[in-house]
Amino acid sequence: MEHDDTHPLGPRRVVVTGAGGQLGRALVEAFTGDEVIALTHADWDVARPAPPLAARPELVLHTAAWTDVDGAEDDPQSAAAVNIGGTTNVAALGAPLVAFSSDYVFDGTKGSPYVESDAPAPLSVYGTTKLRGEAAAGDEAWIIRTSWLFGPAGHNFLRTMLRLGAERDELGVVDDQRGCPTFVGHLAAATRQLVDRGSAFGVWHLAAAGDCTWADFAEAIFEEAGLECRVRRITTAEFGAKAPRPAVSILRSEKGAPELPHWRDGLRACLAVM
Ligand SMILES: NC(=O)c1ccc[n+]([C@@H]2O[C@H](COP(=O)([O-])OP(=O)(O)OC[C@H]3O[C@@H](n4cnc5c(N)ncnc54)[C@H](OP(=O)(O)O)[C@@H]3O)[C@@H](O)[C@H]2O)c1
Repeated sequence: MEHDDTHPLGPRRVVVTGAGGQLGRALVEAFTGDEVIALTHADWDVARPAPPLAARPELVLHTAAWTDVDGAEDDPQSAAAVNIGGTTNVAALGAPLVAFSSDYVFDGTKGSPYVESDAPAPLSVYGTTKLRGEAAAGDEAWIIRTSWLFGPAGHNFLRTMLRLGAERDELGVVDDQRGCPTFVGHLAAATRQLVDRGSAFGVWHLAAAGDCTWADFAEAIFEEAGLECRVRRITTAEFGAKAPRPAVSILRSEKGAPELPHWRDGLRACLAVM
């Protein structure tokens, strides 16, 4: 029997914001079978009210965001306009909403995985705007916190490592931050599962199984891609990024969220489609 992508209740009108971004693209693919209205940054700057839509959406997948974590430290107002104001504008569409948030709402000092009921305490401007964005999503929203996203397109750690790993013999990579590198294809599928099974609105943690440091992830990337580049393990202080980041921001669910494959399987799946 052929796989049927159609939702049991028939195709839904689904708006995707930030549809040109890495997660936006993956969601457009994962919701095949629905009537997807993919709005890129050029189609709708979410810091402004929504443009006229032909029909009211039945579901909104909101991925548009200011994702430049270091840049947000220099321009907190612009980051807030997108991540908080933008989410308010998206919630004003009045449809059930999936709003994506981040492990950077936590300070990383717990030292063990964060679950949905843990108290957020963001360290950075970006993390603060994402946390306030969660509140702006309203009551009819699934807040999906995820982490360390990578995909075949766009700006991400995997693509940076593939580029630098091909150019250099050795690379210094941070080894004192630990998280869950998550493949956008796996996250998009789990998002669809979460919505389709009728999960309650509220906060959900969806991130890849397993955890590692950026240095571990870089080594795995070089191994899987067959690149001869050594990883020199460095500290966050040595790397010297502008925004502070949580040391341990592993996300796990205490609510029975759909489980994602291990990050290494995500890496292999991603490389296979690149
Ligand atoms: N990347 C990560 O590691 C990570 C981790 C945890 C959570 N998240 C969250 O996951 C979601 C998706 O992230 P991503 O990795 O897919 O990011 P991404 O690849 O940077 O995509 C974000 C998209 O939003 C667009 N955008 C930026 N400002 C906008 C605005 N004012 N109006 C409309 N669109 C705008 C960007 O367009 P332009 O490029 O044209 O500006 C881009 O296409 C975000 O909510 C992010 O905070 C990401």
